[in-house]
Amino acid sequence: MRWSMMMNIFEQSGRGLCSHWRAIVVVSLFVIFFSYSILWAGDCPQPRNTKKAPPDIYEMVNPLEPTVENVLEGKAIYEEKAKPLACRFCHGTKGDGRGPMAFGLNPSPRNFTCARTINDVPDGQLFWIIRNGSSGTGMPAFLKLEDEEIWQVILYLRKLARSRIAMASRWLSFCILERCRQLKMD
Ligand code: HEC
Repeated sequence: MRWSMMMNIFEQSGRGLCSHWRAIVVVSLFVIFFSYSILWAGDCPQPRNTKKAPPDIYEMVNPLEPTVENVLEGKAIYEEKAKPLACRFCHGTKGDGRGPMAFGLNPSPRNFTCARTINDVPDGQLFWIIRNGSSGTGMPAFLKLEDEEIWQVILYLRKLARSRIAMASRWLSFCILERCRQLKMD
């Protein structure tokens, strides 16, 4: 799109902003989602005092590729298959650490959407905690999961990590696009 066209769209959206109810709806939506992604998307960065895995496990790298099949299998394990309890009950369907059973757990379940906390934690550490649990916390051991299943669930939870700026800019672009679509219709 040419620069002049873009400026034109912004000018028009500026002129119509107060007079048009649909613009007001879009702006309110943006404010709600922006505040949500900045303020209420879980604790971020989250304090993390989890015990460190033994060195040989800590340094392990996920042997699986993030193919669609592996990520979808990880999602199924996360959302329903894991026994004794699927991950989402504590870590939340969105991965923000606010599942229905998170209330009252201290420390809180890890917030996988918080890139600043989770991106620096190596695969081997995640593997070790999922297999053995985190003693003295609500995080149970998942002894019945195969190694492959643990690696699949790790591929999935890595996909849940988003920086807040990335989330906020996703909503910003959504709202701008939505506004442009309306201008075309007007
Ligand atoms: C009953 C609640 C509960 C369930 C179910 C649960 N978790 Fe957790 N999880 C926690 C809590 C609480 C922590 C925080 C532990 C800590 O701070 O040491 C945690 C921490 C973690 C961590 C952080 C490890 C680290 O070193 O930072 C990972 C990874 C994790 N859980 C993965 C999972 C996966 C995958 C599942 C499902 C297979 C799952 N959890 C199911 C409560 C739960």
